[in-house]
Amino acid sequence: MSSQTDTSRIGAPNAGDRTLDGSIRIDNVSHIYGKGTDRVTALGPVDLTVPPGEFLVLVGASGCGKSTLLRLIAGFESATEGSVQVSGTTPTPGLTSGVVFQQPRLFPWKTVGGNVDLALKYAGISKGARVARRDQLLARVGLEGTADRKIWEISGGQQQRVAIARALAADTSLLLLDEPFAALDALTRERLQEDLRQVSAESGRTSVFVTHSADEAAFLGSRIVVLTTRPGQVALDIPVDLPRSGVDADELRGSPEFAALRAEVGHAVKTAAAA
Ligand SMILES: Nc1ncnc2c1ncn2[C@@H]1O[C@H](COP(=O)(O)OP(=O)(O)OP(=O)(O)O)[C@@H](O)[C@H]1O
Ligand SMILES: [Mg+2]
Repeated sequence: MSSQTDTSRIGAPNAGDRTLDGSIRIDNVSHIYGKGTDRVTALGPVDLTVPPGEFLVLVGASGCGKSTLLRLIAGFESATEGSVQVSGTTPTPGLTSGVVFQQPRLFPWKTVGGNVDLALKYAGISKGARVARRDQLLARVGLEGTADRKIWEISGGQQQRVAIARALAADTSLLLLDEPFAALDALTRERLQEDLRQVSAESGRTSVFVTHSADEAAFLGSRIVVLTTRPGQVALDIPVDLPRSGVDADELRGSPEFAALRAEVGHAVKTAAAA
């Protein structure tokens, strides 16, 4: 996906600045919620370095700290201990990364196009450039011609596509996704996985994707990190060498290499959860 030209931007100085490379550095990070008897050590210590362009999938049992780690990378929260850096800087919500949640969290009173337009406005894209960019983003997620539809007129899978378009709007070099397809039916989920795999291969963005599913992890990841139970630590770091582009999705899913990886991840998650 190409960056907007300088003349089309106003404000939001970091958004879409692809000189930010999307790399992530997590140094000795732990996170604690609450105080006294309410104190919960949710995560850590974790050390992780994610180079630009990697598609990192985080898997682990429920409550092990996956969303916590994602929120720290997004800059929604600051780590209790250690340091998190995105593109060499302290992460800033909305500027250093785009985020997609489990639920689409769209504005229901705005149209499909209106939701994407708002994100473009926040990212500093000038009004004159926004309609074309909005339509380009909607086409990118397979929603061409839907800009004027109301949010309640489209399906759950389509709403999640709008949420992805919105996260791509700022053209940040890092995309964070927290179980974005968990609430969808199996067929829609597979289609969206295929589209996301393609979008990420084309755009060269760094991505961090949280899931419970070994199948989803094996299909999407260029690297898979399995976390232990709470407080989440890295149990296993699996490099993936399945082809990233130019491969038929069904062929990939049917290959023995994919089956072996899926089994390895499934086994690692179960072992980490039982430890
Ligand atoms: N804001 C919060 N205040 C207090 N405790 C929290 C808060 N957010 C998360 N926790 C606790 O921290 C731990 C890790 O939570 P987190 O949401 O990161 O887990 P998760 O791996 O994303 O789980 P799931 O797979 O169920 O989404 C859990 O025990 C959770 O109850
Ligand atoms: Mg979570």
